[in-house]
Amino acid sequence: MAVKPETLNGVPLFEKLPDDVRKRFAVWVSEIEVPEGQHLADEGEYAYDLFIIKDGTAEVTQDGNTVAELGPGEFFGEMGVLERAPRNATVVAKTPMTLLTLSSWDVKRLESKSPEAIEQLQQVIEQRRKSA
Ligand code: CMP
Repeated sequence: MAVKPETLNGVPLFEKLPDDVRKRFAVWVSEIEVPEGQHLADEGEYAYDLFIIKDGTAEVTQDGNTVAELGPGEFFGEMGVLERAPRNATVVAKTPMTLLTLSSWDVKRLESKSPEAIEQLQQVIEQRRKSA
């Protein structure tokens, strides 16, 4: 389940966490490896995990049209977690990927420790809405 604290270094979302908090937070983060072609989110479904890309590329589609490609340092799934809305896009691994995942509980914990991190998620939601 937990990752080594160093794993979170250099991840933009965790940048604002004080060092000691980031270290403790690593306990709540999981790392997974997925093969090319794996569906990570399916448009219209309810799911509450947030994914942060460590390695690899993901393709984001809406109604079968590509709307974005996401790479290392970027995240997805924030809309399902923060808004409890159905996934608004399908996300598929375009290459083998290494991902950090947080459940909605973990995101709540992050919120109490770093409101800035959640603001960052919310800003990205706004931008993605505009581009949609
Ligand atoms: P969520 O709705 O939880 O699941 C699908 C995810 O695709 C969504 O969260 C965003 O993280 C991501 N997404 C949706 N629209 C865009 C977009 N226009 N650009 C980049 N990512 C997007």
